[in-house]
Amino acid sequence: MKSIKAATYFVHFQENGYAALNNLIANNNYSSIFILMDENTHQNCYGKFIPKLVANCPIELIEIESGEINKNLETCTGVWNVLTELNADRKSLLITLGGGVITDLGGFVASTFKRGIDFVNIPTTLLSMVDASVGGKTGVDLGVLKNQIGLFANPEIVIVDTAYLETVTPREIRSGTAEIIKYGLTYDVSLYEKIKNSENLDITELIHRSIAIKNEVVIEDPKEQGLRKILNFGHTIGHAVESYFLEANEKESLTHGEAIAIGMVAECFVSSKLLGFPKKTLEEIKQLIVTIYGKTQIVKEDFNAILTYLKHDKKNVSGRVNFVLLKGLEQTQLDCKVTTELIIESLEYYNS
Ligand code: GLY
Repeated sequence: MKSIKAATYFVHFQENGYAALNNLIANNNYSSIFILMDENTHQNCYGKFIPKLVANCPIELIEIESGEINKNLETCTGVWNVLTELNADRKSLLITLGGGVITDLGGFVASTFKRGIDFVNIPTTLLSMVDASVGGKTGVDLGVLKNQIGLFANPEIVIVDTAYLETVTPREIRSGTAEIIKYGLTYDVSLYEKIKNSENLDITELIHRSIAIKNEVVIEDPKEQGLRKILNFGHTIGHAVESYFLEANEKESLTHGEAIAIGMVAECFVSSKLLGFPKKTLEEIKQLIVTIYGKTQIVKEDFNAILTYLKHDKKNVSGRVNFVLLKGLEQTQLDCKVTTELIIESLEYYNS
């Protein structure tokens, strides 16, 4: 499968990725290599990865605890300390092997350690393949506020090897699918149609197309001044729902994709009210989302807390919540203002 050229790096697929990694290592004379994993990727992915790696320098493993709850500065401090104890220097390479938590946090740790060391992303979940590992966003959460601390920094290469998807649960695959649906609704309707009709579902092709879309958008707008905001479709309400379910004691946490799927239904509803997004398509999208993800109970008592999280969305400017909405499929409208009443109505619509 053809590699994708990003601004300063390539996204390589399957075996090509390891050949590129070994070339990178041979050409850069790294002093040491660190592989950042969590307990799951250590157990399930490391064994698949390590036989592919060819290096003449010391290789050290760093394991952190899995889960969004650990994507914080405390974990970063732990990793910075281990790097220091193991004498990492500016010629060290950090390889991230894991899902979005590992690639986001690992990229942040690498790009701030000694003012920046090289890193390579090897995403192992569908979500991190189609979104987190590509596009240069790195960072961690601050409390329950997602990705509040971070910076833009590009990896040396990204390796997408679908063999790692054999190690994840169907729920995690569904989580990543929400981002593919997002690319379909905002940029390339054929992706949405394919998932809706469950036809020709070649996962490698869906991943390749999703990354190609994200890359086109990021190349045009790397720092999210305009076009890149379309990648936030579904995420304004979705992130608030995700944070709320993570924090509320009596609620079971949602995956990122489950929350974003709810966000997409709500934001399509808002789009239909404000921009005339077709009602029939809205109904179809809701039907598809409920079929894939089931129906999450969001009751009236939850609304206020969800609205409070919305106020902390990092895309807000001057206290205003900024939405990306849809006039139609593939027709995005940036920086839309939405009233609190309409947001509540959109959650009621999801519930209905
Ligand atoms: N996940 C959205 C972005 O990378 O811009």
